[in-house]
Amino acid sequence: MSGKLNSPLGLSSIQSAVPESYVLPPEKRPTAVPPCKTIPVIDLQGLDRDRTDLIQQIIKASQEYGFFQLTNHGVSEELMRDVVVVGQEFFELPVKEKERFYYRDPKQICKFKTSINYEQEEVHFWRENFTHPCHPLEDYIDHWPQNPVRYREVFGSYTVEVRKVGLLLLDLICEGLGLECGYFEGDLSGGMVMNTNYYPLCPDPSLVLGLPKHGDPYLLTLLNQGHVPGLQVLKDEQWLEVEPIPNTFVVNINHMLQIISNGKLKSADHRVVPSSVSARTTVVNFIRPTNDCLVGPAKSLLVKNCSPPLYKTITFGDFISTYGTKTHQGIDPLERVML
Ligand code: OGA
Ligand code: NI
Repeated sequence: MSGKLNSPLGLSSIQSAVPESYVLPPEKRPTAVPPCKTIPVIDLQGLDRDRTDLIQQIIKASQEYGFFQLTNHGVSEELMRDVVVVGQEFFELPVKEKERFYYRDPKQICKFKTSINYEQEEVHFWRENFTHPCHPLEDYIDHWPQNPVRYREVFGSYTVEVRKVGLLLLDLICEGLGLECGYFEGDLSGGMVMNTNYYPLCPDPSLVLGLPKHGDPYLLTLLNQGHVPGLQVLKDEQWLEVEPIPNTFVVNINHMLQIISNGKLKSADHRVVPSSVSARTTVVNFIRPTNDCLVGPAKSLLVKNCSPPLYKTITFGDFISTYGTKTHQGIDPLERVML
């Protein structure tokens, strides 16, 4: 089993060159990103002053970029910092500790892996990943790691706080789209996934990717990217760097929100470039529908706009099991459910 964990776990800073199995073909390598262009920053404090204006900012950013940065969201600086620190501590544990969670069975609650699909992919990606469900908390927390010792406490508190921010954003999006009040409540936002990524220090980031171009298949993503840059978003066929801003969430629209909004909101593709200066740890939460929840273009939007549905209505479970793993293989899941 430890053979599977060889890379990139064994890479870390002592490695002087990128191993062959991580080197991408030239056409897939990251190219330089123009500076100074970035995604919108939205200040949630504006909610008290002008709710309508803030909602418009969110809808505009979600239409044009599919991404925005969210400041003054109410999660404490301490918790934002601690969750990245404890996340990083997990990845720095001895291999034997992490091996207990190594991904063997899709039914496993906590899953640890390197790259994306280490066994099957042609070229590996420069990351480690740890993922597990996190809502409802009491259903899952007893399965989470007890090492690092603060894992359950910090990730537990963080999850509860992030969910509040996510549900508030969904309420504002609901209002901005003109959907009936509470549209996203219940099964549509009934689950949440915790996804922690670790991109080890890389001797030559021009040859590799931490994550290839992909869209997130859930409803909404809230990402805490710490202080090391590396995330890039595709906008008008150009890659834009998402600059780390302290205490800020990077928020992005997922496939299900693009479907529900009948294409009005955009689930933008993004990728990760590792750093030659510092290892990078990111803590990502996906709000997701439950497996048997039916997802399709919202009826009231179709009627209001007199427009035909662009996508089929499917259960989230079918969508994720058929296409969820394909988004990293260059297949666009949204194209597969287009009418
Ligand atoms: C993801 C993702 C970005 C990052 O986990 O889906 O896009 O910066 N992560 O880690
Ligand atoms: Ni992503």
